[in-house]
Amino acid sequence: MAHPLEQLRDDALREIESASDEQTLEAARVKYLGRSGSISAWGEQMKSLSKEEKPVVGKLLNEVRNAVTAASEKRTAGFRSQKESASLGKIDISLPGTPHQIGALHPLTQMWERSIEIFRRMGFALADGPDIEDEWHCFDALNTPPEHPARSEQDTFYLPDGRLLRTHTSTVQIRTMQAEKPPIRVISPGAAYRNEEIDATHAAQFHQIEGLCVDENVSVADLKGALEFFMRELFGPDTAVQFRPHFFPFTEPSLEVYVKSKALKGGERWIEVAGSGVVHPAVFEQVNKARGDKGYDPEKWSGYAFGLGMDRLAMILFDIPDLRLFSQNDLRFLRQFA
Ligand code: PHE
Repeated sequence: MAHPLEQLRDDALREIESASDEQTLEAARVKYLGRSGSISAWGEQMKSLSKEEKPVVGKLLNEVRNAVTAASEKRTAGFRSQKESASLGKIDISLPGTPHQIGALHPLTQMWERSIEIFRRMGFALADGPDIEDEWHCFDALNTPPEHPARSEQDTFYLPDGRLLRTHTSTVQIRTMQAEKPPIRVISPGAAYRNEEIDATHAAQFHQIEGLCVDENVSVADLKGALEFFMRELFGPDTAVQFRPHFFPFTEPSLEVYVKSKALKGGERWIEVAGSGVVHPAVFEQVNKARGDKGYDPEKWSGYAFGLGMDRLAMILFDIPDLRLFSQNDLRFLRQFA
């Protein structure tokens, strides 16, 4: 005669096999294998069996539990794969996919890339320097005396250790000349920092491209030629470029650069876009002192330098009314340049 456990197993297997859906299957599983299910109840009953019966029934109980568990798991897996293939069947592979959202370059980055590309065609290489600088690279080496107002804390962010956030990228002129002998032809894009009252046209962090060319017989004419070429490549052939006398401690003569172009919105008036000039011999002397040689003999070498305001140029090129838009991370603004 079959043991009642065997009868229980057969009933359980039959119910599991015939379950028509996942709920019925789960109900059957609970009925037999659940905590108060009938197979589990046999575990309890084991205690009251005799010494001889215990191992026999125990073995049988294990076999039954394993068989029923395996059958239930097999059918669960079956229902699951049925569900998967049913949902796959609803996919129309002939439909176009969901496009990935890809990012785009920030308008300032685009401006940088365009500018660098133009200067590269003129033979300028890229140079780099740190944003955190010492006073010597930012001021002394650039012929800017200790009493100069630019050095005051009203204009410059100082660190507790006396270093500072560079107020212009002209620091890279010095670093390049310290490291390399002339002839030099480099540009250096980067950020600069000033303690400004922030408004639509002023920011505490802004961006420049510094340029430095040192060679024999370099003059103001070379400076004007290079910057005029650059502006026309950037803003179009109708762009007018004007140089107005100015003062910078590290150039002599010093010139501010203005552009005007009918092709640009608001391009009817002159807009200041750069500072520039012929490198002051005192700068070469400072560099020589630091180098410990006569590498930049002002009798032999001359040069020009410029600092282009990238934020300003991008505002003109893309017709952007407010500088603060560059740093607010508003996607409605940024998407227009994607
Ligand atoms: N460093 C100057 C500024 O930030 C610009 C400049 C660069 C002027 C190189 C002359 C030569 O205003």
